[in-house]
Amino acid sequence: MLRRDFIKGAAGLAGAALLASPAKAVYTSKITKPYDWTDYPPTTDRAAFVKWGVSQRDEDPKYLGERFDRFGALVRNKDVWDKRVERAFLYVPREEFCLKPNLPRAYASAFLDIGFGVTISGPHLVGRMTSTIDPQKGERVLEVGTGSGYQSAFLANLTDKVFTIEIIKPLAERTRATYDALIARGYEEYKHITTKNDDGYYGWAENGPFDKIIVTCGIDHVPPPLLQQLKPDGIMVIPVGPPGAQRVLKITKSTAADGQVTVARSDIYNGKIVPFVPFTKLVDGKIVGSHNN
Ligand SMILES: C[S@@+](CC[C@H](N)C(=O)[O-])C[C@H]1O[C@@H](n2cnc3c(N)ncnc32)[C@H](O)[C@@H]1O
Repeated sequence: MLRRDFIKGAAGLAGAALLASPAKAVYTSKITKPYDWTDYPPTTDRAAFVKWGVSQRDEDPKYLGERFDRFGALVRNKDVWDKRVERAFLYVPREEFCLKPNLPRAYASAFLDIGFGVTISGPHLVGRMTSTIDPQKGERVLEVGTGSGYQSAFLANLTDKVFTIEIIKPLAERTRATYDALIARGYEEYKHITTKNDDGYYGWAENGPFDKIIVTCGIDHVPPPLLQQLKPDGIMVIPVGPPGAQRVLKITKSTAADGQVTVARSDIYNGKIVPFVPFTKLVDGKIVGSHNN
């Protein structure tokens, strides 16, 4: 759906949704166990997974069950194919990153309103984009477009070095507060995430270069600063194309022995169009238009 269509559709939500907070008060879990990178939840039995989530993460059995069902769909659809990424999906309480009115659809195969005219991407898309960059523990990963914070929460279960930039200041602040509240409840893994409110077109040079970059807003070209901040042999996943009609590309940077840099592109959906919210531009502290050429 195009951003403008989305805004039209969301108009009825008026200020309520735009100002709403994520649904943190629904079931206030409190994790007491230290985060364990080697712990893998059950993946073949729904009841066993729910039992694991209740005992290890003190989470709501209702959402644990829904998470397990969506997990099965992601595996069947080949949106996730690596045990570490599967684990990361199962570890993230998506319901904590959704607005209250959307809680009944927290695990639906859909993007959802998060206020400010933008969305949290659907779980299948997040799964496939994350699987494509396949972050390894210790790698530096940059996300452009923090939004709800769900994507970076997912990444924080794969590496301890996640950097994420959001252009909409009140959204960046709200998501920072969500992470802080979750950390206070024992979700130590979100300490792996460093956040910033800025225009992500220019990357984050002080924290680069990055092993992996994931862009969650659509643009008609690959931003040169992001390509520059990608390490040799790094991987970027980015929606590229005209407004509302992007293709999700995997960009692989390779450096030959003589130092020559080459860039290979492939389409992670074999040509399917996936519309994203626009890659907007910050001018003198105000969001003005987009970075499209
Ligand atoms: C599809 S949404 C967010 C999805 C997000 N990854 C999540 O997990 O909820 C894309 C986000 O990109 C942000 N965005 C757009 N242009 C940007 C820019 N130039 N720099 C940083 N963020 C930008 C939007 O404000 C929006 O929050």
